[in-house]
Amino acid sequence: MPAEERGGVEAEIALGCDHAGLPLERAIAARLRELGKSIVELGTDTEASVDYPVFAQRVADAVAAGKQRYGILVCGTGIGMSIAANKVPGIRAAHCTSQYDAYLARAHNDANVVCLGGRVTAPEHACAIVETFLAGKFDGGRHQRRIDEIAAMERRGGRQEA
Ligand code: RB5
Repeated sequence: MPAEERGGVEAEIALGCDHAGLPLERAIAARLRELGKSIVELGTDTEASVDYPVFAQRVADAVAAGKQRYGILVCGTGIGMSIAANKVPGIRAAHCTSQYDAYLARAHNDANVVCLGGRVTAPEHACAIVETFLAGKFDGGRHQRRIDEIAAMERRGGRQEA
């Protein structure tokens, strides 16, 4: 169900990061503001060491609840954030290292969260990845069937069909 139909979108995009992702998160947030995007930053906001699952949960919960349409998560590699965010039902978090990844994450996977690595992806490149992700459109068709299969896996708690 579209986010608007679940009670309204407060901001379009939620951002979260850990200490390793903070500089890149700030660069992405600045770019999105320049572009006039509506964003909410859910932390962390200091360089003190923190645990990335806390911030993955915040952003994933906000997107899954329909408060924001998309999430952006940044840790050192983007890997931990994607593993954690994908534990939240309804979240399809894609770890993207290229614009092609970002394009396909939207077109084929209907991803609603993009995960990036602050220690491995340069800010300009990361912003281009984010812009491609946000501009992307889901192709539907056979890809919808596969998304539905993932949703059914979630409903079974990740277990094999009986
Ligand atoms: C933190 O040192 C680092 O492990 C974290 O940011 C992330 O890269 C985990 O996947």
